[in-house]
Amino acid sequence: MEKRISYAVLTISTRSSAGKREDTSGPALCDLVKQHLGDVICHKILPDEKAVISSELIKICDQMTPDIIFTLGGTGLAPSDVTPEATEHVIEKTVPGISEAMRMWSLEKTNRAMLSRGISGVRKQTLIINMPGSEKAVKECYELVQPVLRHAVELIHEQVKDCGR
Ligand code: MTE
Repeated sequence: MEKRISYAVLTISTRSSAGKREDTSGPALCDLVKQHLGDVICHKILPDEKAVISSELIKICDQMTPDIIFTLGGTGLAPSDVTPEATEHVIEKTVPGISEAMRMWSLEKTNRAMLSRGISGVRKQTLIINMPGSEKAVKECYELVQPVLRHAVELIHEQVKDCGR
């Protein structure tokens, strides 16, 4: 039987972390992950603060070692949007193709997709993927990346049996 993929989901929103706005994106993504037989081992809501986001990413990667972390939100152009900078600070390897593909795919849905600055990368054994924060965007982006996640995790763990070549 295939090993189950483990996930952490971090909703990045100062308003949601203060209880002033309901986080619908995080629960929606957790549901999708579970439908695809993934294990959500951590779901947190964090404020838009670079130091907080970076230290939480480090803690989760190094102590909980999920296969994948999705961050939701804080990728736009507002002064408070710092998720890509916080992620850049902690990753050891960038995976630009994932974020490029998400933007291209998302442009088919809305021209505002070009306003998301999200990045992706690997820290230790964990792939971190920034997604835009709306529930709609999260569902759209997950639909695109879901089919490649297992292969990505196998590559990180050097467990690739078939690269399709
Ligand atoms: N991508 C998809 N697939 N669907 C969307 O609705 N919204 C865009 C963009 N990417 C969107 C999307 C909008 S309106 C913004 S402002 C940016 O993501 C940044 O969103 P964030 O600040 O919540 O991260």
